[in-house]
Amino acid sequence: MKKFAVFGNPIAQSLSPTIHQMFAKSCAEDISYEKIEAPLDGFEATIDNFFASPQAVGCNVTVPFKERACAMAKHKDDAVVMARAANTLMRNEDGELCAFNTDGIGLVADLTNNGLNLQGNKVLLLGAGGAARGVVHPLLNAGIENLHILNRTIEKAQAIAEDANNPKVTAVNHKQLLADYDVVINSTSASLSGTLPTVPDAVLANCQLAYDMVYSKDNGATVFMAHAEQLGAAKQLDGLGMLVEQAAAAFYIWTGKQPTTASVIEYLRNR
Ligand code: ATR
Repeated sequence: MKKFAVFGNPIAQSLSPTIHQMFAKSCAEDISYEKIEAPLDGFEATIDNFFASPQAVGCNVTVPFKERACAMAKHKDDAVVMARAANTLMRNEDGELCAFNTDGIGLVADLTNNGLNLQGNKVLLLGAGGAARGVVHPLLNAGIENLHILNRTIEKAQAIAEDANNPKVTAVNHKQLLADYDVVINSTSASLSGTLPTVPDAVLANCQLAYDMVYSKDNGATVFMAHAEQLGAAKQLDGLGMLVEQAAAAFYIWTGKQPTTASVIEYLRNR
């Protein structure tokens, strides 16, 4: 049986085992997928121990270990290099650790699933942490016209724009904001504490989609979604679809099989 796991601290809340077991069933794969709480001072040893098993194929990594997963890996895909963080690990045939970041692919897939054609879109990204870094290239690859990054600490947005090294990516302050973004994406961790990043009401009122990268545990609206709806944003979405799509991209990396995601998203929405 192929062995998989997700590592985090805490990890009890993780939906990854449910998601991957549903993928495995639909792809006729027989897998085990555990959630493992790694100690804060022993993440690397826990990963080494996992991969010491000959059945171990791959794992996911979540908060607060994504940066350490990146640091451990011998090979990193472009998204990991940009994000400086990895959410997916596997060993290659030489036993070397390879790191991937599928968060951005997951975001773009979820936006597409929801009928958005990103081609030519103006996108405002709120926040400039690891979560923001991970979605820059996939959004650019999806053909957006520009990506403006607004962050409480502007230097961090400027650093992302510099690293992206693409004229379409700009760090902006409040005065430089456009009036007509198609999509506004909240990548800040503000939602996790029930607070809102500062963004002018008109920006949210005029957008086609206000997207919160976190998902709400009770399937209700996050504070950001509720705020955008109240202001008149045409549509609001949380990050549940992104969670399932980033998992699907990891499953494909590990198995070469592309699982169907719509039924999994629907199941989690109605759980
Ligand atoms: P992650 O890996 O989830 O992106 P992170 O790297 O700690 O986490 O980044 C968190 C992001 O959320 C940062 O952009 C942070 O803003 P600062 O760079 O100014 O710290 C942003 N953030 C967190 N709480 C916020 C709040 N209450 N209002 C606005 N931005 C917030």
